[in-house]
This record gives sequence, C-alpha cells and structure tokens, in this order.
Amino acid sequence: MTFVNLLELEALARPCLPTAVFDYFAGGAHDEITLGENRRAYDTVMLRPRVLVDVRHRDLSTTLLGARLSCPVLVAPMALQGMAHADGELATARAATSVGTIVTVSTLSSVPAEDIRPACTPAPWYQVYVHQDRGITTEILGRVSAAGYAALVLTVDTPVLGRRERDVRNAFRPPPSVVFTNAAPSGTMPAAQESKLAEYFTARHDAGVTWKDLEWLRRVCSLPIVLKGVVRADDAARAVEHGVDGLIVSNHGGRQLDTTVPAIRALPEVSDAVHGRIPVLVDGGVRRGTDVLKAIALGACAVLVGRPVLWGLALDGEAGVRQVLTTLRDELDTAMALCGCRTLGEITRDLVVE
Ligand SMILES: Cc1cc2nc3c(=O)[nH]c(=O)nc-3n(C[C@H](O)[C@H](O)[C@H](O)COP(=O)(O)O)c2cc1C
Repeated sequence: MTFVNLLELEALARPCLPTAVFDYFAGGAHDEITLGENRRAYDTVMLRPRVLVDVRHRDLSTTLLGARLSCPVLVAPMALQGMAHADGELATARAATSVGTIVTVSTLSSVPAEDIRPACTPAPWYQVYVHQDRGITTEILGRVSAAGYAALVLTVDTPVLGRRERDVRNAFRPPPSVVFTNAAPSGTMPAAQESKLAEYFTARHDAGVTWKDLEWLRRVCSLPIVLKGVVRADDAARAVEHGVDGLIVSNHGGRQLDTTVPAIRALPEVSDAVHGRIPVLVDGGVRRGTDVLKAIALGACAVLVGRPVLWGLALDGEAGVRQVLTTLRDELDTAMALCGCRTLGEITRDLVVE
C-alpha cells in the first residue's frame, strides 16, 4: 500500500469497507462540527521556527508513566477493530509494538484484552467504560491487571453515547462475526449482541459515574488512572486533586457532544491548570507531524491518533497501521528539524502563534 499522508487515507480506505462500517468509523455526533474543527483548529495554529540550530541529531523518544516510547504518538482506544480487518486489534497492537509505542485497548474491543497483551511492548493501556453491573467491570479490571496492562484510561466524556446520525440512518450494528469480547465474565458476547450500538451502550454502561468513583476504581485496580475526555481547567485541577495519574484532552474525535471545543484549543488551559504535575496528552484531528509538534508546544507530552489507524488497518492490516505511525513519526522528525528542535523538550510554547 502506498499513501503519502494521513489526510488522504480516509478516501483510500472507503472502498474497502461496507458503507455502515465506514460511516461508523468516520462519523461524528450531530452536525459533525467538532469533528471538522478538531482538524481545522490545528491549521490555524501557526509556527515560529527557530533557525541556525545544529539539528543533525534528533531524538523523538519520551517516557510516559515509566514506559519508554520511540515517539510521542500513541494509538487511541477504538472499538470493534475487527470490522476493519480480520486481525483487528492484534494487527494494531503489533504495528504499535514495531514502532515502539503504546496502544490503548477499548472496553469494546473485538479481540479479548488478554489476547492482545502478548503482542504489546511497551505494555498497553486499557480503556474503561464502567458497567452498571460493577461486578463486570471489577472482573475485567482484574483480568487486564493480571495480564500486565500498564494503565487504565477512564473515558469521562461518554456517560451516554453521542448521537451519530450516520449510524442512526444506517441502523448501524456490528456484523455478527464481530463481537464485544471483554464485556462478559466468560469473554463471550453477552446477549445484547443483537442490539444496535447505542442501545447496547445505554443498556449496559453507567451514566452515573462521578469523581467519587475514582476511589472505587482505585480500590478494585491498582493501575495508574488516566482520564480521557477532559477539556476544562477546573476539571483538570480536580483530577490532579483526586490523584489521577494522567489526562487526555479529548472530545472523543467529535463523536460525543457536537460543538465541543476543538481538542487543541482546550489543551493550553488544561496544561496550564495541571502545571506539569501529571502528563497531559491530547487527541482528535492529529494528522500531521506539525500537529504533534503544535500539541507538544501547547503543553502535551504526547498525542493519540484515532481514525487514520483504522484506515491503515482496513487498507493493509498491521503493515497499514505501521505506515500510519511511521509517517506521523517521520513528519514530526522533519518538523522538529525545521523548527530547530533536537528533543521533545526543546519544543516550547514560543514556537507557536495561538
Ligand atoms: C470508530 C471509533 C471508535 C472509538 N471507540 C472508542 C472507545 O471505545 N473508547 C474511547 O474512549 N474512545 C473511542 N473512540 C475515540 C478515540 O479514542 C479518539 O478519542 C478519537 O478517535 C481521536 O480523534 P481522531 O480519530 O480524529 O484521531 C473511538 C473513535 C473512533 C473513530
């Protein structure tokens, strides 16, 4: 497979997927304003490159929650990757490992979390949706902890599923061959398999999760906790007070509350509120190496990439995902050279005009 950049991937992948699956992957909530703005907001952040720096040697590596990464680009949690490729999350995990970065496995993965774990170095993170039946979540967390996952990513922007009108029109439901493998104690698909995704989600997941539940989560699982979906300084400060180990500034790729502020625009206030006490990451619309550089300049220590991974997966499985990640890494390397940065630490806020 050949592609030149991540922006052209969606159109390339489209013919490989049934319409309803393509729409589920590509779509956002309501009018898809945030989906589009996530991307456009990066284009409005302009760079102020430094010149005459010896940039012959550049180092993109970083350390995150104790793990060494080759570059500051992680794979975002995304449900049901078996719809993109028969190897699903396994192919994504292998690609991330070959590049030396972390993959985040969704509660709604189509390959069981334990089966993905051996494919991952560094150790993966596990994304948590809390079930109404807390026993199910406790049981899953016991399994992922025993399997050697490195962190929990508690998604906090999804008390209910956003209304994705493409999915409503398509009456989207996963094909029978693709099931949610983590949600039942036995690892088999629960009876709700027949229902559409939004119904399934509402029926099983707990819309009543609050700050108090962080104590519960810590009691049932000792892994570090990263909150995904924070876009406000006050929530960020509260997260630090509650002893959270990391934050992901995110609006779920525009799939939850439409017209939520673009992720890159929310990043500075969150990063300022956190003031370096815990790592801050960002996702949503990251498609270019310059996007990664801008995110780091505005206070992120790393980014996560979502949909392009699914497009790479649909086009060419593990190799496709690897190409997505290496393209972004190589673009970041070039952007750093052209901005006079040899290390991630040299990517400072003065490099951007906000
Ligand atoms: C098809 C799809 C499924 C997703 N599933 C999940 C999920 O299960 N849990 C979660 O926290 N986020 C999920 N997300 C959101 C991503 O983790 C991430 O926030 C978003 O895709 C980043 O934006 P980008 O796609 O523009 O890179 C999903 C996104 C997509 C596109």
